[in-house]
Amino acid sequence: MRNLEDIKGSRVYGRRQGQALSAARQARLDKWLPNIEIPLDGLVPTGPSGHFDSALADHWLEIGFGKGEHLAAQAKSHPDIGVIGCEPFLNGVSGLVDIVDQENLTNVRIFMDDARLLMDSLPDQSIGRAFILFPDPWPKARHHKRRIVSAGNIKVLSRILKDGAELRIGTDHMEYCRWIMAHMLENPDFNWLSDSPENWRNRPDDWPASRYEIKSREQGRISSYLRFIRCQR
Ligand SMILES: C[S@@+](CC[C@H](N)C(=O)[O-])C[C@H]1O[C@@H](n2cnc3c(N)ncnc32)[C@H](O)[C@@H]1O
Repeated sequence: MRNLEDIKGSRVYGRRQGQALSAARQARLDKWLPNIEIPLDGLVPTGPSGHFDSALADHWLEIGFGKGEHLAAQAKSHPDIGVIGCEPFLNGVSGLVDIVDQENLTNVRIFMDDARLLMDSLPDQSIGRAFILFPDPWPKARHHKRRIVSAGNIKVLSRILKDGAELRIGTDHMEYCRWIMAHMLENPDFNWLSDSPENWRNRPDDWPASRYEIKSREQGRISSYLRFIRCQR
């Protein structure tokens, strides 16, 4: 396991809050967060089930959910799955909480900090599916060490994902896409789920579009939808 203090000291995300929240949004946060937030000091090694009120069929993880549209859509269409989302950006968390409130979703939990802290707290083989959608590409070479897709984080994902679990990564950044493929193919624990270009050029039906992806498409950029399977141990 990595050192908690090292991760805290090298957090890889940008700003934590943009625009001030409206009174209504703040009220929704105040209503929901006490029940659905996983606090930093609540990272007990009980496994993901310890963060939910009732037993669920499986637990999925989304890293950097932005405003949460994809996460909420997955939670809504899979009410038997507990979906944990990590996002340090307060306005993003507020976006997800708005949908949780509107849809009364009870199977969502939010970790408002660096996903690596939560990932490190999860037991081996405890997550059935993970999503990293349109992670910040950090294009400058000197910033590549901030990329969430890295050999170290892939190793942790390999540890916490169940055998046969899927890891989905979306990106519209060609160079980061090549980086992701190189790092994923280097790790023998994962197989790329693709037998034709259509597999990674087209978003599968059960992969709802995220806010970032919609904007990117409107701006004429092309995305890759990469799916990897955790091999049997
Ligand atoms: C480009 S945005 C994409 C947001 C969303 N996935 C989408 O597709 O709309 C990347 C997101 O990852 C979050 N992020 C960056 N580093 C993170 C980390 N270490 N842990 C959790 N979230 C992180 C950022 O705050 C940001 O919201």
